[in-house]
Amino acid sequence: MEKEINISKEGLIKSLEAKGTDQEELHKKAAEVRDKNLSKNVYFRGIIEFSNVCQNDCLYCGIRKSNKKLKRYSMTKQEILDSVEFCNKANYGSIVLQSGESQTKQFTDFVTDIIKTIKKKYPNIGITLCVGEQKKEIYKKFFEAGAHRYLLRIETSNEEHYNKLHPKDMSFKNRRQCLIDLKDIGFQVGTGVMIGSPFQTIENLAEDLLFFKENDIDMVGMGPYIPCDETPLKNPNHNPEKNLNLGLNMIATLRLMMPDINIASTTALQALNPIGRELGLKAGANVIMPIVTPTKYRENYQLYQDKPCINESSEDCMHCITRRIRSVNLNPAFGGWGDSKHFFKRVKDGS
Ligand code: 5AD
Repeated sequence: MEKEINISKEGLIKSLEAKGTDQEELHKKAAEVRDKNLSKNVYFRGIIEFSNVCQNDCLYCGIRKSNKKLKRYSMTKQEILDSVEFCNKANYGSIVLQSGESQTKQFTDFVTDIIKTIKKKYPNIGITLCVGEQKKEIYKKFFEAGAHRYLLRIETSNEEHYNKLHPKDMSFKNRRQCLIDLKDIGFQVGTGVMIGSPFQTIENLAEDLLFFKENDIDMVGMGPYIPCDETPLKNPNHNPEKNLNLGLNMIATLRLMMPDINIASTTALQALNPIGRELGLKAGANVIMPIVTPTKYRENYQLYQDKPCINESSEDCMHCITRRIRSVNLNPAFGGWGDSKHFFKRVKDGS
């Protein structure tokens, strides 16, 4: 098979820096690779941001523990089930349960119970979890309860860089171990990084792409870093335009490297450009995550400044996203789980 991309570090950097017609070519090629290896289907993951309570103090994140200005919330079981019912009616096929991080038994029992309840009531809905670092036995409980995909962003694949973005009590090694544990248990595993985060170099981004490949990741969700007022990290060199282009080039380059994985066109892209998510799809992404969190909670789940959709209802988001997918001549794949094709190949190959 013809090699789609030179995956030396230099080759990747060249691809990440593509501009003008080179960039257009790159995105076009990536979209073709997606269409050929997957299809023109774009799968939905209705995202329920069910709690902003977080034990971590990540230096970039708006819901960090030290942000005392934030009103904390945790949705009730019934509120979560109502949001799932919305996804069921909208025929989204899959949901993502996302929250701040907590390792208390009360929290992990709550999550396990909610997964079981959802699976019982809606066996046809696929469940992705995004509730941070947990012990392996807890991941196992989540899996046995019926969640089958897990997202845990590594944030950066460079340990030194990781340490600059996180407090001392968080460790790169632990996060990496979590990804290994998740894979070992049988989850479809997703990870990702922030693009344009403080202290990041273009070499770091090229290494991030190689990290996804070397770790045989099934799904990737990565988005541009956006500064947040209530955090200690300011990025004096923050350049939204540059970050957007880097974000899109990361998607396109990754698609050429890993043709059969799922790649999300993330909400953060839309924070930088009104049609950011469409551009992500045009650059080779095949998953989109409409927000289903009740509107009253949305303003308190701002991981970064100017997060889109915070005044919208789940209904608004459904219509808006469907229109966005169609506007770039792709097919909103209602009803399907849209599991990672890469995962099935990986399992078959025994890796
Ligand atoms: N800008 C962009 N993305 C952010 N996240 C957290 N804070 C920010 C920010 N300021 C992302 C992290 C996390 C995900 C849930 O949100 O990558 O893993």
